[in-house]
Amino acid sequence: MNKGLEVARGKTKVLYEKPGEPDTLVVTALDNITAGDGARRDELPGKGRIAAKTTARVFRLLNLCGLPTHYLSGGEDDDDNEMLVRRANMIPIEVVVRGVAAGSLVKRKPGIAKGAILVPRMVEFFLKDDANHDPLIEIDDIVHRGLATPQELGMMSEIARITFEILAHAWRSRETLLVDLKIEFGRLSGGEGRGNLVIADVIDNDSWRVWPQGREELMLDKQMYRDLETVTPDDLARVHANYETVADLVGSFPALRSGMVAYVADGAQSVALLDPVIAQTNVFGLQSLRRVVSTHLVPAYVLQAVQQLDATFARLVYVASGPHLAAMLSAATPTPVFDATEFDASELALVVAKTLAMDDTVMFGRVLLVQANARSAVLGADAQINAPGPPVGLA
Ligand code: C5P
Repeated sequence: MNKGLEVARGKTKVLYEKPGEPDTLVVTALDNITAGDGARRDELPGKGRIAAKTTARVFRLLNLCGLPTHYLSGGEDDDDNEMLVRRANMIPIEVVVRGVAAGSLVKRKPGIAKGAILVPRMVEFFLKDDANHDPLIEIDDIVHRGLATPQELGMMSEIARITFEILAHAWRSRETLLVDLKIEFGRLSGGEGRGNLVIADVIDNDSWRVWPQGREELMLDKQMYRDLETVTPDDLARVHANYETVADLVGSFPALRSGMVAYVADGAQSVALLDPVIAQTNVFGLQSLRRVVSTHLVPAYVLQAVQQLDATFARLVYVASGPHLAAMLSAATPTPVFDATEFDASELALVVAKTLAMDDTVMFGRVLLVQANARSAVLGADAQINAPGPPVGLA
């Protein structure tokens, strides 16, 4: 890819301008692996290719869920390991989310046993400062130094938590425990949404701890490299193999075939009744189809339609236009059936999305985001209702 001037260089990547596109950067991952703030450094041929792939795949998953990231495209082998991202001004803070106690947390707090489940998830901020070993920093200190506003910190925590839950869900479906995760944020430096917070930098196998079967000794992430006393070629070969395994697993996180919602109307007169639910389920980007049947005019046809749909779609949910049809469908199929008249439209859309989210991480992420937005709408409304009005007498 045609690259312009070098903009920044980290321990494991280089960022370049993209000629003619001032709001876009090209990121190339290097074949380096480092630990201890750069005190240990090794060349690991192929690591850049694998890291670019892992990061691109994680960011694509997060984008599909609706989270704001700087990732645009690229990062696969065909892209020469170059990834295109939106240019952002980085906030020099590492945001760490912990679901299981490990690492620096158990060193700092000996009262917390390694492996303890942390509920709610713990969010910590570390100042990016290699010379001082990235010290833990309190929220008020971040604000005092002018690094981020309280509102931005609130959003960063929320986005980091959701990111963690999405990736934990994906890893869980691979029988692997996501222990903790580090992400970084930037503010878009131009284009649409200029100034908005986005997840930036990288999220790869250096950014998290992952324990297959919940067993630390099976770890697949960079901690294995950090823990080495001396680094032999055999060790590096094992590290390389683990990184490759992780890139492959991450590539399989989005479900190949997403779920299907079958909206079934009991008679032509009931078709319109399902429209509000269909509109609400579109929020989740669910695939859907519609059928018209009749429980009392053509009951055999109802059963035939169900058998046909069940045989066609592996991941299916029925939404029936009323209780008679719902009862008939429920008796006829092992697939979940919901009666549209029992819920309001947005509630039903959420239930349907949750049902399909159980084995679809993208849908799971979209559900989390819709819920987070609903929460923030309530908090916003509460803040609004008590906000001081315009000064009286200044009309
Ligand atoms: O070492 P600590 O327990 O604080 O690390 C928490 C998480 O942040 C781990 O998943 C680790 O891989 C990640 N991390 C990172 N970059 C750092 C420090 C920690 O990605 N500079």
